Amino acid sequence: MTETAWDTYAQQKPQRRPVNAAGELTWFNWTQYPDHGPGAEILGTGHGSSVLELGCGKGGNLAHIATLGARAVGVDLSPAQLRAADARWADTVELELHQADALDFLTRCTDTFDAVFSVFGAVWFTDPARLLPAIHERLRPGGVLAFSQRPPVGGCYGCQASYITRSEEEDPLVVKRWDYEPPRWTQILREYGFTEATARVLPAPPGPRKIGTLLVRTTA
Ligand SMILES: C[S@@+](CC[C@H](N)C(=O)[O-])C[C@H]1O[C@@H](n2cnc3c(N)ncnc32)[C@H](O)[C@@H]1O
Repeated sequence: MTETAWDTYAQQKPQRRPVNAAGELTWFNWTQYPDHGPGAEILGTGHGSSVLELGCGKGGNLAHIATLGARAVGVDLSPAQLRAADARWADTVELELHQADALDFLTRCTDTFDAVFSVFGAVWFTDPARLLPAIHERLRPGGVLAFSQRPPVGGCYGCQASYITRSEEEDPLVVKRWDYEPPRWTQILREYGFTEATARVLPAPPGPRKIGTLLVRTTA
């Protein structure tokens, strides 16, 4: 059911623009707004690093990581998302794409990564009590975990329902997501052995939309 939900989402979500406002072919975007917020420097990786994205979707951020000379490994539940990633990036950069649930992938994987990241991705849609220990296990000591997602709605914490809308004749599909305020995220990360955790809400860019972006960074 969840795989179907994300395949439905894939059909609604367009491919990334051909170039960003600076005219670049690849770029990193942590937020839901184009040309906004920090970039890949948050991950502290570069040439020769090994980087894993959980819920890579159509692969735009992962492609940028590959252009920096890193091994770029992406995992996503949705075959449709991965087909779109392959169609867009296969001729440009080398991506290692895996169709899997993030937790299953981490449990099976024996590689160690310098950084793990997730942009509105599997970290948002998986119980942190199960996912964080699995990520910690696969990060090298000092390796970086960073993720972004929408901030919580005040008072709505823990497991929440997210709706993926369909046609007027069909019920929406439902996926679960996990929402916490920034101080609670840093506490949870410490509970699972992470250090130097920072969590903040980046404000939305000037304009009509007001919801910012929760950005979390920590080290194993
Ligand atoms: C909102 S999209 C974001 C995609 C991409 N990170 C981006 O910024 O465009 C969420 C993605 O996470 C994937 N996803 C959700 N739960 C997952 C899980 N448990 N394991 C792997 N991928 C998952 C979905 O298939 C979808 O591609």
